[in-house]
Amino acid sequence: MKNELRHGRLKYISFLIIDLVCVVVANVLAVSLYLSFADVKYSMGEHIPVIYLMLGVDIAVTIGFNTLSRVLRRRKRIEIFQTLKHVVISFVLLAMILFTTKSGADYSRVIIFLAYGLEFLLMLGCRYIWKKILMKLYWKNNSDSALLMTTESFAEEALETSRKSGVDVKSIFLLDSKGQKSLGGVPVCDGIEDAIAVLGWDLAKDVYIYGLDHQMVPDALAKACKEMKVKIDLVDFKYKIIDVKTVKNDDSRYGSLSFIEGKRDIPFPIRRVYWITETEADLHRGHHAHKLNCQLLFCPHGKIDIILDDGEKKETICLDEPGKGLLLMPGLWREMIWKESGSVLCVLASEYYDPDEYIRNYDGFIAYNSEDGKKN
Ligand code: TYD
Repeated sequence: MKNELRHGRLKYISFLIIDLVCVVVANVLAVSLYLSFADVKYSMGEHIPVIYLMLGVDIAVTIGFNTLSRVLRRRKRIEIFQTLKHVVISFVLLAMILFTTKSGADYSRVIIFLAYGLEFLLMLGCRYIWKKILMKLYWKNNSDSALLMTTESFAEEALETSRKSGVDVKSIFLLDSKGQKSLGGVPVCDGIEDAIAVLGWDLAKDVYIYGLDHQMVPDALAKACKEMKVKIDLVDFKYKIIDVKTVKNDDSRYGSLSFIEGKRDIPFPIRRVYWITETEADLHRGHHAHKLNCQLLFCPHGKIDIILDDGEKKETICLDEPGKGLLLMPGLWREMIWKESGSVLCVLASEYYDPDEYIRNYDGFIAYNSEDGKKN
């Protein structure tokens, strides 16, 4: 509710007012309809306390159950379900109030049933029309807007890349936020609910996920994007050299200790670790690409060249110290050349071993990359 109000402001309040107007109109209609068909002694005046109660209950349900959450961008099916949920909870609450105060007998049950039925239809219709109007007013101005999701270490680069591609970053959602309020002049989300409210109310069109493996997208965000039909774009760098955290002791006999934590130092959970040992100089391995697997390569002992090919150009990275890590995203052809015998290659991988996830034929790799490019 706090997040919705913070980002929705007048838009959110306008929906709340529309709902309240629907409650009043539904009651007036229900009383008029019932009195014109049934021959009973009941008047609008007698029904007014119920209207006040229903208005109070409506506000309580909206706040307590957050039933207006991302209402502006809900799909039809979800809207029907949420409106129905709102009306049913309101009805149950009102029934409980009338029962506990023993005042139920003073009011017409038929009119209350009828009023809630009409409230449901009116709310659904009015919300639909109001949504159409608001979207017409605001949507065009947001054609290139996005919520950027990344980690703190990639944030600056992610912002620069988004801006270069003409994306207007509305807000940043940092997976490892330390409570920053803004970065590079762009507001930082408070948490996942705040990020979802940016999509729902500030009308960010897409989610750009920079340099993170698909497994890092929180379920709640993926679900909300599906619900609001928001596209998630995984915007990757292809590779990156990172400094592996290393602790050295003043006494050189203690050696040095390097460490990496999954999802913290590298943008994926570690599912598999493997290493290649007992090697001779000039050994060539690799000659494959991955469809899904993200990896961190490092060489704790010796010297190994990694040749990377994205289908257009080749680059060589030399792994020659334990504190140097090479982060590889999927879609890169790689070859490893051992420059010294006995060199050790260690790999942290985001996926379990699956031979079908490998591309081992170079022409197949080029074809796969161009298909992937078309999809994006
Ligand atoms: P391969 O991927 O061909 O090594 P490289 O590309 O470095 O030359 O792997 C060699 C063999 O090891 C192959 O038969 C598959 C097997 N293997 C596993 O069973 N699990 C693993 O995690 C890896 C990496 C390989």
